[in-house]
Amino acid sequence: MLSVSHLDVFHANLQVVWDLSFSVGKGELVTLIGPNGAGKTTTVETLVGLNRNARGTITFCGEDILGMPPYRLFQKGLALVPEKREIFPKMPVVENLLSGVTDPSATDKNLEHIYRLFPILQERGQQMAGTLSGGEQQMLAIGRALMSNPQLLILDEPSTGLSPLLVGQVFRSLEQLGREGMTVLLLEQNVRHALAMCHRGYVLENGRIVKEGKAKELLHDPEIQKAYLGF
Ligand SMILES: Nc1ncnc2c1ncn2[C@@H]1O[C@H](COP(=O)(O)OP(=O)(O)OP(=O)(O)O)[C@@H](O)[C@H]1O
Ligand SMILES: [Mg+2]
Repeated sequence: MLSVSHLDVFHANLQVVWDLSFSVGKGELVTLIGPNGAGKTTTVETLVGLNRNARGTITFCGEDILGMPPYRLFQKGLALVPEKREIFPKMPVVENLLSGVTDPSATDKNLEHIYRLFPILQERGQQMAGTLSGGEQQMLAIGRALMSNPQLLILDEPSTGLSPLLVGQVFRSLEQLGREGMTVLLLEQNVRHALAMCHRGYVLENGRIVKEGKAKELLHDPEIQKAYLGF
């Protein structure tokens, strides 16, 4: 579904992503794991058209998409749950969800699905989004992305700022989405949870992929255990 090949990305003249190649198949859960500053956000911004200062190839559903503007990529089914969540704090929860609609005829069905996944969003429907807890805001950000019924759901560090309990909850909902057939690309620093949830993983360090493989194999890789899992 998504294929990235030899991608270089720059911030002004500074190159921060180097020769990145990775892929996500339909129905797959794939993670790019890496520490602060590895280039995760830069990579997702490039995928969704927010940073076009890049070269290489990005193919989505067979089409070359590098350089396309964000709204077109969103229409094509690429939805991002951004690192900073970027919900509308002074709008009710339900209005935030509705802001993600692309096909009005699917609104009821999508809302029903999201409420099944995150019942709290239905309970808090009329509450101002800014008054939700951090975990609830993350669920809202995911819910809003799902309102567009995306082909590929990209999440930039959904675990940031959440208690272990809430991290578990958010990741279980992503697993559930995976079981329902959703294709997911997860950028994470929480290596243990990300690898436990995904099928395949890539390790990103200093803007380069240094390791890749089946998630289970990476979880048992001594280098990864030492560097990221505190063994
Ligand atoms: N707008 C910018 N201008 C210049 N450099 C930037 C800009 N945004 C990011 N960078 C640099 O690019 C590198 C990668 O940053 P990026 O935000 O992609 O990392 P990240 O993996 O998302 O990190 P984190 O886990 O902290 O979110 C860093 O060295 C950062 O300082
Ligand atoms: Mg980031």
